Amino acid sequence: MSPNVREKRVRPSVVITAGPTREEIDPIRFISNYSTGRFGYEIAREAVRRGCPTTLISGPTALTPPKGARTTLVGSAIQMKSALDKARRGADVIIMAAAVSDWRVRNRSGRKLKRNGSALTIELIENPDIISSIARKRSRRQLLVGFALETEALKANALKKLEKKGLDIIVANLTGEGEGPFGDNIIDIMILDRRGGRQNIRGKTKRQAAKIILDKVFGFNI
Ligand code: CTP
Repeated sequence: MSPNVREKRVRPSVVITAGPTREEIDPIRFISNYSTGRFGYEIAREAVRRGCPTTLISGPTALTPPKGARTTLVGSAIQMKSALDKARRGADVIIMAAAVSDWRVRNRSGRKLKRNGSALTIELIENPDIISSIARKRSRRQLLVGFALETEALKANALKKLEKKGLDIIVANLTGEGEGPFGDNIIDIMILDRRGGRQNIRGKTKRQAAKIILDKVFGFNI
């Protein structure tokens, strides 16, 4: 019988990634995104509050890691992947809230690039899909939770990601010009699971949404 994480006598251990990644162009410049890390940090804080051994792997943010979480700070997607590869082994639950950059610079310059009056072309190559690689390697008792950030067709795109990436649960956010999930604001999310479960959460703070997500995660029978 596969264990239900809620029924385990010891608290399930949780690994959470959060924040953006930074892909360096040279020692001065980088490519990144608007993620503040807030949602992932709230989930980590809530996991600690529930007594779970909690690991937070965070890209660069302005936030203070929650007390009680074992925190590893990373820069690039490649660094996040290797930190997660180490942390994932003992984890019961892996929650990938980070906004990983899908591309990195093919040839990072070791020196500051100088203007020379002409256009600069930077070649980007794809970063690994971290959560998909974890899904292929995970043990059967590990629960895998992803996020989906979409500008359209929220449910359809999130369901595609749930399946394609091999996840148990996906938390979908809709964003668009001038609105959306970055920062402090009130959010609307949809939680979907691989058994067809659907939950619409509207008008919650990230702290409130983090609690709802962990209730769902700990109540999900793998
Ligand atoms: N993710 C990941 N590795 C990447 C990109 C994304 O692990 N290189 C994870 C995110 O942390 C999130 C999920 O995959 O949990 C979905 O991320 P999202 O940015 O919505 O989707 P993408 O995979 O980037 O797909 P697309 O760009 O087509 O929307």
